[in-house]
Amino acid sequence: MIGCISRRHFVSAGLGFSLIHLLPRHASAGPAEFRTLTAKSGSASLLGKDGPRTEIWGYDGTVPGPILRARRGDEIRIRLLNQLTQPTSIHWHGIRIENSMDGAAGLTQKPAEPGKTFDYRFTLPDAGTYWYHPHMLSSEQVDRGLHGLLIVDEAEPVEVDQDIALVLDDWRLEKDGRIHESFGNFHDAAHQGRYGNYLTVNGQATPEIPVRKNERIRLRLLNAANARIMPVRITEHEATVMALDGQPTLPFPAENSRVVLSPGSRCDLFIDAKLKSGTSAPIMIDMGREEVEIARLIYVAEPKRVAPLPPARPLPSNALPERMDLVNAFRLEVLMEGGAMSMKMRDLMTQSRPQGTHGHAPRFIAWTLNGKASEGHDPDPLFSVKRGQTVVLSFPNETRFPHNIHIHGHHFRHLDDRDDSWKPYWLDTVLILPGKTERIAFIADNPGKWMIHCHMLEHQAAGMAAWFKVG
Ligand code: C2O
Ligand code: CU
Repeated sequence: MIGCISRRHFVSAGLGFSLIHLLPRHASAGPAEFRTLTAKSGSASLLGKDGPRTEIWGYDGTVPGPILRARRGDEIRIRLLNQLTQPTSIHWHGIRIENSMDGAAGLTQKPAEPGKTFDYRFTLPDAGTYWYHPHMLSSEQVDRGLHGLLIVDEAEPVEVDQDIALVLDDWRLEKDGRIHESFGNFHDAAHQGRYGNYLTVNGQATPEIPVRKNERIRLRLLNAANARIMPVRITEHEATVMALDGQPTLPFPAENSRVVLSPGSRCDLFIDAKLKSGTSAPIMIDMGREEVEIARLIYVAEPKRVAPLPPARPLPSNALPERMDLVNAFRLEVLMEGGAMSMKMRDLMTQSRPQGTHGHAPRFIAWTLNGKASEGHDPDPLFSVKRGQTVVLSFPNETRFPHNIHIHGHHFRHLDDRDDSWKPYWLDTVLILPGKTERIAFIADNPGKWMIHCHMLEHQAAGMAAWFKVG
C-alpha cells in the first residue's frame, strides 16, 4: 500500500527531531517545572499531504508524540494531562525506572482519569533510544497514536553527522483515512493481533531523508505497532548495529543490512552514506508477501568529506552488571499457551467476559502464562525474588503464533539455546517464534512490582500478562 503513494515530501533536516531538552542542564529546576504532555485527539496526514487527514489520539495531539530528549543521569519531570475520554497512564518503556513511576496502571499507579493529571519524575540511568506509551487500554490507545520517543543522550557526544529517529507504525485505515474501529475484537486477540494495512514513518507516508556522501548517520528505529513484526532493510548500504532496545552492543554488521523489529523494540544503526549525489536508496519493510518502501535516503549536495570515517567505536556502556550468578539463579519456566487453533483455546472460551474492565470494549481471554490468563495486576505475582537475585526464565511458546515478551524495570541477557552463555547484547523485549523456546537472564536489582507481558497488545489484553515482585 505504501508503494501506491508516489508523492514524497522532503523532510526538513529536523526529521523526527524536534528536540526538546526537558530541562536546562545547569538551571536547578524548581518543583513547579514539569513539562505538560497532553493526551488528546488530533489529526495527522498519514495518507500523505494530499490525502484525507486521519483523526488520531496523540501526545500534544501529534503522532508520534514529541521527542523527549535528555542526557544520561538527568531527571525528567512530565505532567500527563488526560484529555481523552478514557483513563490513561504513561509507561516509560525500557527505562530502568523507579517502580512508582513505571506507569503500569492497576499495578504501580491508578490511572489518570479524564480531565486529571499524573506527575512523572525520575532520573535516566541509561543512555539510548527508549519510548513512552499508555499502559491502560493500550491496544486501543497506542494504536490510535499515543506513543513517542524518549532519547537519552550519552554523557559524551557520539560522533555522527546526523541523528535521525524513525518511528515505524502500522495502521488499519479505511479508504477515507479513518482508523478502523475494530478494537477489542476476538479475531485479532486470538490470532496475530491487530495488523494494519498501511505503514508510516514518523506519522508520514514515505518520508525522504536527505544525506550526503561520506556522512555517518545514526538511525534510531522503533517499532511502535501493536502487533506487526517488522523486518527492516536498508538497501545499498551496510548497516552496523550499535544498540538494541536502547543498550549499546559490540557493533556488528546487520546480515544483509536487515534487522527484525518486534513490537516495542528498538535498534540503533550506523550507516555510512556512500552513494553519489542525485541518487537514492529506499528503506524497505517486509510485509510478508512483498517488501514495501517506507522511507528513502536521498543524496543531496556535495560529499560531506573526501573519505568515509574510520570504523565506529562502540557506544559508551551504560555499565549494566557484567556478571550474573547463574549457578544460584532462580529458574522458572513460563509456558505460553492458547490462541486460535489450540486445544487450550476451547477451555478459555468459556471464561471470556462480555465486558472489559472499564466497560469499554469486549474482553476476551485467549492466552495464558503457566495456565493463567491475567491482565497483569491480579493479587498474585508470577514469581517473587529477593533484590539482587539472578533470574533465568524460559519461555516455551506452545502456540501457533509469535509472541514478544517484554519485562519492565530491567534489561536482560538472551541466553543461548544449548547452555547458559549469552548473546552479546541486552534486550527488554524478546521475540519467541511458535514452537520455539527462548531463555533470558537478568539480575532482579530493581525493587517493586514489575509487569511481564506480550507486547503484541491484543495478546496482552487477552491474558498474556503477569507481574513479578522484587523486594
Ligand atoms: Cu511497552 Cu508493558 O510495555
Ligand atoms: Cu503475544
